[in-house]
Amino acid sequence: MHASRFVRGLADVLGAEHVLTDPDLVASYTRDWTGRYLGTTAAVLRPADTAEVAAVLSLCADEGQPVTPQGGNTGLVGGSVPLRGELVLSLRRLRALGEIDAAAGQVTAGAGVTVGDLQASARAAGWAYGVDLASRDSATVGGTVATNAGGLRVLRYGDTRAQLRGIEAVLGTGSVISHLGGLVKDNTGYDLAGLLCGSEGTLGVVTAARLALVAPAAERVVALLAFATTPAAVSAGQLLRREVASLSAAELFFDAGLALVCRATGSAPPFAAAHRAYLLVEASGAEDPSAGLAAGIAALDGVADVAVAVEPRAMAGLWHYRDAHTEAIQTLGQPHKLDVTLPASLLAAFCEEAPAVVAGVAPHAATWLFGHVADGNVHVNVTGIGPDDPAVDEAVLTRVAELGGSISAEHGIGAQKRSWLALNRSPAELEAFRALKRALDPAGICNPGVLLPAP
Ligand code: FAD
Ligand code: LAC
Ligand code: ZN
Repeated sequence: MHASRFVRGLADVLGAEHVLTDPDLVASYTRDWTGRYLGTTAAVLRPADTAEVAAVLSLCADEGQPVTPQGGNTGLVGGSVPLRGELVLSLRRLRALGEIDAAAGQVTAGAGVTVGDLQASARAAGWAYGVDLASRDSATVGGTVATNAGGLRVLRYGDTRAQLRGIEAVLGTGSVISHLGGLVKDNTGYDLAGLLCGSEGTLGVVTAARLALVAPAAERVVALLAFATTPAAVSAGQLLRREVASLSAAELFFDAGLALVCRATGSAPPFAAAHRAYLLVEASGAEDPSAGLAAGIAALDGVADVAVAVEPRAMAGLWHYRDAHTEAIQTLGQPHKLDVTLPASLLAAFCEEAPAVVAGVAPHAATWLFGHVADGNVHVNVTGIGPDDPAVDEAVLTRVAELGGSISAEHGIGAQKRSWLALNRSPAELEAFRALKRALDPAGICNPGVLLPAP
């Protein structure tokens, strides 16, 4: 069928006002958050509910028409934009947020609910949502499930998959699977929620999720620690995890990144002198965690300076130095963003080696490192290279794999890293991935340019 006639048919299903074709309206859906990935599309489809998503996917499957599911479009691996001219399927209108189930400590949220709105709703009912990330005001439940987002409190509450108690999704065939009962113990066959979580829109479209909530942390304390060396900062983060039971975040960053954040956001530096490495730690719980954190810090070696905050504004001020890294790096142009995990014992050495690995293939590039130290997860951002230049990605990801690390800690594989997936996954694993894809998306319409390497 002619593309425009097919799109007009979709307007009969969704209503013409929810099929966007005007280039001005479509533009923000075709460009990713970093600006590195630019796609094109004939239309952005904005279904209102699961039934409309199912109708759209059924028609697309019949027609062999690929779609790119999209939530908040904050993904950092080029997976959320139509790089091969797919139709964009925006889930942002699926904003139903159920009543908090106080007995179970759970809630059912539509795919388009933002993480920030979910957190606020949980807070208002005396609960909290365990996943938090700096993109909270745009990133959606559907997108965070599809990427198995990690974020700032994985060490305490786990990643998005760990919160997932059930899922509703439309598979690539157009059929709806709905398993939202939220039973904690439920060994009735394959874990489809776990499978769809992290599948990056390649098997189907998440329309709702049943999510566990956690006890709110009524008392909090935040400290910023400065160190003269990277190994000292990394070991301190690893030690605090054991020594401070109430530890809820341990974030690592470096002198150059902090100076950039201060420059880009007009903030004053936290200490009179600059230091090589910084660790931002947070402890929280029902009881005041300050004494426990202070004792843990007192037992550390190599702490060159400390700033502690207990008032909300002051805590936010310290968090800002960490949270603002992504936005500050963005002011330098379109970075290559590599998000990797190393075995814990090799993290410090990798952080020290990474700039040289980059310089080996791109002598004029700048390397920026920050990350979630307790998870072994460091974000390697590289500026000063062309958006399509693969040399730095190749060198860094190959080195990570040699060291036994993962080429994607939390952002996913997307379009960016699909040609390197075999660094981490065996031929047998990749064949199992392809078999799952064939089974759940036989027409190959769900995000075909993402995750799986080209055959
Ligand atoms: P999108 O960007 O719209 O999509 C991401 C992927 O999921 C795409 O492949 C898309 O096709 C697919 N998808 C989206 N919705 C659905 C759906 N309903 N069904 C099926 N597939 C779908 N990530 C972290 O893990 N930890 C962090 O700490 C973190 N911090 C960030 C900070 C900033 C400032 C920014 C810009 C990003 C950050 N991210 C982080 C990355 C990003 O926010 C996450 O990957 C997030 O999960 C994406 O959610 P989204 O709704 O924006 O999804
Ligand atoms: C962060 C994102 C980039 O940790 O994952 O800020
Ligand atoms: Zn991160």
